[in-house]
Amino acid sequence: MRVLSGIQPSGELHIGNYFGMMKPMIEYQDRSELFCFIVNYHAMTSVTEAERLSSGTLRAALDFLSLGLDPEKAIFWVQSDVPEVTELTWILNNVTPVGLLLRSHSYKDKVEQGIAPNHGLLTYPVLMAADILLYQTDRVPVGKDQQQHLEITRDIAIRFNNIYGETFVLPEAEINQKVPTVVGTDGRKMSKSYDNTIEIFCEEKALRQKIARIVTDATPVADPKDPDKCNLYATISLFMNEQEKADLAARYRRGGLKYSDVKKELFERMTEYFKEARNRRMELVRDPETIRAILRKGAEKARHKALPTMELVRKRTGINY
Ligand code: ADP
Ligand code: TRP
Repeated sequence: MRVLSGIQPSGELHIGNYFGMMKPMIEYQDRSELFCFIVNYHAMTSVTEAERLSSGTLRAALDFLSLGLDPEKAIFWVQSDVPEVTELTWILNNVTPVGLLLRSHSYKDKVEQGIAPNHGLLTYPVLMAADILLYQTDRVPVGKDQQQHLEITRDIAIRFNNIYGETFVLPEAEINQKVPTVVGTDGRKMSKSYDNTIEIFCEEKALRQKIARIVTDATPVADPKDPDKCNLYATISLFMNEQEKADLAARYRRGGLKYSDVKKELFERMTEYFKEARNRRMELVRDPETIRAILRKGAEKARHKALPTMELVRKRTGINY
């Protein structure tokens, strides 16, 4: 089975990215053919400073490698290093109804926020479809917010296959059911656009501050509390096994629990959880050339996989003459 997913290098990666996408991806490397990439073209829809985009790309790669992605097991590269993806995007643009793109939630949300949309933002899902279809992907692990993009990808693939003949595999989204949406410090979905994130590799002092900011209710210490309505509980649960979660839930219900104690525990658990990755990162960060070499080698492998599909697409559409 071919598994593929990408992440935008548009900011520091946070624990929502980790549990929603990076962790399930890394777990796949031992049991599937894994394609993992940094989508720098997509990030252009929000990042307009060259230095931020280029350093963010390298940092996202650094984070992924530190967290355990193994470039010997997975194909790991930067989107723009396989130029066929933009060629395929153009071709797919011609089977994509504008209405389909106008109905995209993420597009509509941005417009509602008052962003004057450019064409890149509108066609974002077509580039994503090209990412997925170019590699004949079976499964795409993503957070729930990406589900609609996967539906759009399937729609585009079906339309292409209908017009030009069977060409693309229809991919399935895989939403990690255990952690559909990681909540942010304010209780909304954790997202860099909401300024409510906890970064995976946050420095100690900043991490304490972020955790201190997690919003809790005003129930007095002595009273029983409802773990299921508490976003602090939801966050610390990410770092606990079933038994530990049940024990903490019982402490909530019993009364006498101080949120500040749970916050301290969250700090300790999170630090411990990412300790090994943090150590690896300290080594790797000193050697950007090694990271670049890994990415270049990955791009060669990815391109090699993409070429037969692209040849078929060119033939089917009459681009080859
Ligand atoms: P952000 O919302 O911070 O901009 P992205 O849109 O770049 O994050 O998401 C990258 C990947 O991480 C996607 O697969 C997305 O579904 C996943 N992801 C992002 N935030 C969360 C979250 N809060 N919970 C679960 N998964 C998430
Ligand atoms: N749109 C995705 C996000 O914001 C990133 C992405 C781009 C992607 N291309 C992809 C995810 C292909 C999975 C497969 O998270």
